[in-house]
Amino acid sequence: MRRIVAVILFCVPLGAQAHEPHVCGPGIPDAPVLSGHLEQADIVAGAVEFAELFEAGRELFVGQFNVCDGQGRPAATGTGEKRAPGQPAFIRTSSPEANSCHGCHAQPRSGGGGDFVANVFVLAQALDPVTDSTSSEFSNERNTLGMFGSGAIDMLAREMSTDLRAQAAALADGTHTLTTKGVDFEVTIAGGAVVDSRGVDTDLVVKPFHQAGVVISVREFTVNAYNHHHGMQAEERFDLNPDKGWEEDFDEDGVRRELTVGDVTAATVFQAALGVPGRVLPRQRAAREAVRKGEALFGELGCASCHRPTLKLRSRRYVEPNPFNPPGTFNDTSQSMSFDLTREGERPRLERTRDGGALVRAYTDLRRHNLCDAAGPDAIRFFCNEELPQGRPAQDGLPGTEFFITRKLWDVGSSAPYGHRGDITTIAEAIMYHGGEARASRDRFVDLPSEDQKAVVRFLKTLQVLPARGGVGVRDDSDSDSGG
Ligand code: HEC
Ligand code: HEC
Repeated sequence: MRRIVAVILFCVPLGAQAHEPHVCGPGIPDAPVLSGHLEQADIVAGAVEFAELFEAGRELFVGQFNVCDGQGRPAATGTGEKRAPGQPAFIRTSSPEANSCHGCHAQPRSGGGGDFVANVFVLAQALDPVTDSTSSEFSNERNTLGMFGSGAIDMLAREMSTDLRAQAAALADGTHTLTTKGVDFEVTIAGGAVVDSRGVDTDLVVKPFHQAGVVISVREFTVNAYNHHHGMQAEERFDLNPDKGWEEDFDEDGVRRELTVGDVTAATVFQAALGVPGRVLPRQRAAREAVRKGEALFGELGCASCHRPTLKLRSRRYVEPNPFNPPGTFNDTSQSMSFDLTREGERPRLERTRDGGALVRAYTDLRRHNLCDAAGPDAIRFFCNEELPQGRPAQDGLPGTEFFITRKLWDVGSSAPYGHRGDITTIAEAIMYHGGEARASRDRFVDLPSEDQKAVVRFLKTLQVLPARGGVGVRDDSDSDSGG
């Protein structure tokens, strides 16, 4: 029933400027999956209700695109470069390899992570078609992450980038430690510019997305993903982009305006407004006590120095688009929309603080770390198996491939399998494979009595994606964490 309502909402022509849905040519007597498109101007003018926008975003996330929508990219690679027409319609390795975002992001429900079989061969899409190999020479194989709470993560990164840039601008040449939200980043400034940095790139823009920490916003990721996985081109990256020659049908599949700016806003807001993960405590008292003990140990072992239990947002509003978006991702803040992360969007929502902020219990510091070191020869190096830097700068004589952003753990009880490649089946093993900067903390875990180790794992398993509750966009002025 709910789904039918969603479809109807999206079918209703949205404002006078909504353009006619394109139809398939005479050769294909069928229709696109998307029965309409959204215009950013209508969203900005408030002509699209929040709940309507969220449902439109859901359709864009679960819809299994067909060629009438513009699925496929005969003349474009998965990184958005021109290629001679002839890219196969589907190829599991270098992509297009999926029919919808939901095809991978489905655990435990739409917007979540994925099984090992939903892995992506990151950067194979630049080579397409990959004919011979999915080995680590050609791609970094990664497991699907969930987007519950991603609006808060996007906003935290923005506030952190703003702080880091302001602090650096006031400093003289030399090496300094910048601190935002209690997280330290070391920078070297020379001639007034940041020339070296630790944990963040020298542009001081915190990039919280992609396990390598190389994507600025949910929107930037979304634009990439539509082209990469589905051959659906966002007009902000292609048709309206001077770098792409303002070409209207860049991928030469015969369909123009495959995804409007408004469509990408809807898909982004859908992800940003998904409920935040929470806690599911066991019923038995003894088990609850073990969880409490595990939580305390998590702090004592030093896990919380990277997996920060709470980061605080100064502002409760999620604003789309993100002003730090790079060229080719919509970033015109004069055409923005916003919503209150603590009062709108799917429940559960963030907890409010008295000073107008909100608490984000994501168990990350949004900083890149190196978990690799010279462990024994028989060590299984699950976290140290990549060969392509993928935007990560070389550091300390290392190629950069060792660095990953501290994994958010707020959904770890719902996100099996584990590790960036998804090749670890238990939480305990994922902890034991930490090395490098986490070596001391990992060794303390390994030295614990088995009951205490189990308590840590038990605590982590309570961190879960919760079922969605209540209506989206219905303002809720009661305490957001009261179970309302
Ligand atoms: C073939 C599987 C697959 C499909 C289809 C897919 N994704 Fe993903 N997604 C992934 C994987 C794998 C990652 C983790 C990438 C990494 O860390 O390198 C990811 C990560 C993300 C992230 C970043 C999450 C984070 O916290 O870093 C976002 C946002 C995202 N996907 C959005 C989308 C959207 C929107 C679509 C549809 C247009 C989509 N994805 C389609 C597999 C997929
Ligand atoms: C130096 C920072 C750091 C410390 C300290 C640290 N971690 Fe991590 N942790 C990370 C990073 C980075 C990853 C992502 C690794 C990857 O997939 O490449 C991670 C991943 C994980 C994962 C895998 C999650 C998943 O869904 O795949 C778990 C579980 C975890 N850490 C638990 C712990 C525990 C428990 C401790 C303390 C014993 C700890 N970590 C200490 C940085 C750290």
